[in-house]
Amino acid sequence: MEVQQTINATRSWSQYRRYQGKSVGFVPTMGALHQGHLSLVRQARKDNDFVVVSVFVNPIQFAPNEDFDNYPRKIRLDLDLLEKECVDLVFAPSSEEMYPKEDSRMNQTWLDVVGPITEGLCGISRPTFFRGVTTVVAKLFNIVQPKRAYFGWKDAQQLAAIRQMVNDLNFDLEVIGLPIVREDDGLAMSSRNAYLTKDERQEAKIVYQSLELAKSRILRGETSVKKITTEMKLLVEDSALSRIDYTTIVSSQTFRPILELENGQDILIAIATYVGSTRLIDNFRLKVPQF
Ligand code: PAJ
Repeated sequence: MEVQQTINATRSWSQYRRYQGKSVGFVPTMGALHQGHLSLVRQARKDNDFVVVSVFVNPIQFAPNEDFDNYPRKIRLDLDLLEKECVDLVFAPSSEEMYPKEDSRMNQTWLDVVGPITEGLCGISRPTFFRGVTTVVAKLFNIVQPKRAYFGWKDAQQLAAIRQMVNDLNFDLEVIGLPIVREDDGLAMSSRNAYLTKDERQEAKIVYQSLELAKSRILRGETSVKKITTEMKLLVEDSALSRIDYTTIVSSQTFRPILELENGQDILIAIATYVGSTRLIDNFRLKVPQF
């Protein structure tokens, strides 16, 4: 496994493979890797001749009050895990390599997906997040030039924004979305779960349980989104450690809000909750059944 820190070396490595007619699969990450990330790497390994993983905690997707400084960084462990998955190249640039300015937040070109995909849900409490993500992912796509890129449904809104960007700007690659990998009690795996104290970790399963509750209501024929999301809120806020940011149901394609469910709709039930001071997000994708 090769590890590269420069844009030039990574681009030449990838260009050479493409030139030979080989496919490159790409998994962008911020490191502190877990089984969720590794599920993407394994799929990329199956689908492609070569696999590139990036490990880069991207400063421009964090607001000044967020956890950029504390975000877990475990590059040695990450490299061991990736080596075991037979990854060919890890691109692990410094902030200066990606944003060569004195102040790393001084990126001056932004790629902004506008409209319902980025406006609601996480776009409300994190208004600059998605443009930070789409900007860095566009840079990474230009550097790695993959044939396929892999993302998790865990970050469904991020995935939708990236798909929109790839379509709108005619990036020459396929975006592949893969299912959420969970702990035994249902908690979606996330690098940020490491912030949870023992008690908070115990409580955090409530996020998944609230999604299960919503799903069971929908499968029994409830159509009022307000009723469903209110029940989710009540369940989560019953726990002293948890505070809801949002619970909502949107179209899983357009992210437009839905008020009343209709037969056959493809929906996303989405939740963001603070457990202690850690913000957790999760979602279920569902087709509203025909009754
Ligand atoms: P990060 O949070 O490290 O996630 C990297 C990829 O792993 C994303 O596509 C995310 O959706 C996926 N992932 C995380 N947890 C998962 C889980 N439990 N099951 C399945 N997939 C999971 O998302 C980012 O980094 C960044 O925003 C990035 C796209 C790298 C841009 O900086």
